[in-house]
Amino acid sequence: MDGTLEIRVIQPEEAHKIVKFLVENFFAHAPLSSCHPKNVLTAEDEAKLCKCIEIYGCSIMALEGDELVGVCVALPKNRSSIDEYFQQADELGKDNKNGQILRLLGEVNRDAGIFDRYGVEEILYLFLASVATSHGGRNIATRMTQELMRLGKLWNYQVLSMDCSSYYCARVCERLGMECLNTVLFDEYRDDSGNPIFKPALPHVAMKTFAQRL
Ligand SMILES: CC(C)(COP(=O)(O)OP(=O)(O)OC[C@H]1O[C@@H](n2cnc3c(N)ncnc32)[C@H](O)[C@@H]1OP(=O)(O)O)[C@@H](O)C(=O)NCCC(=O)NCCS
Repeated sequence: MDGTLEIRVIQPEEAHKIVKFLVENFFAHAPLSSCHPKNVLTAEDEAKLCKCIEIYGCSIMALEGDELVGVCVALPKNRSSIDEYFQQADELGKDNKNGQILRLLGEVNRDAGIFDRYGVEEILYLFLASVATSHGGRNIATRMTQELMRLGKLWNYQVLSMDCSSYYCARVCERLGMECLNTVLFDEYRDDSGNPIFKPALPHVAMKTFAQRL
């Protein structure tokens, strides 16, 4: 079965199909999006995601025969991307689930200090990693990430980074020897009243930022 896995760059005309896959397999299952209250994508969010895949052209997918079994959405990121997380979070408001996720991403990225650490102005960022639930635990995410590292180097990126809210995703990065730059425990990430903002199910206990020089 494993021998038939094909991993390749997603073409612009495939982006709609990919977003549908992500709605079913990423947003419904990723620890932060799926924990109460669920983060439901608006039509505008879906269109933005579609555009991100089309414009940058560095997202990849894994196919087994005709079946789509995995997706990695990737995009370039620079120092100003961190400010954009905070701007978008502010626009959405602090009670908005997507806004809360974006704020956390802004904070972990700011504190990871990735651009200074590696002395680069642009990195390749693995934004969303998703494997069909029926195909989990088969190294598909690990193999997609490895392929993205190979492609990233060909595209002249010097660093690949990823923020992992999922324990399984963090395992992928650890397996690949990526460096963990920052960890925020969900239990310690609290609102003004002292309550944890995210309470995902175990074993997902932290947001971890990983990076690797390519
Ligand atoms: C995270 C995700 C992409 C991992 O994909 P995957 O192809 O199953 O990952 P791999 O097979 O490469 O395995 C990575 C590790 O996770 C473990 N794992 C994956 N799914 C598992 C499951 N359902 N139960 C227990 N362990 C699991 C693997 O055993 C492996 O750990 P190990 O190194 O300790 O053996 C996938 O679980 C997923 O799509 N989840 C929903 C979306 C999501 O959370 N994305 C990441 C948000 S940061």
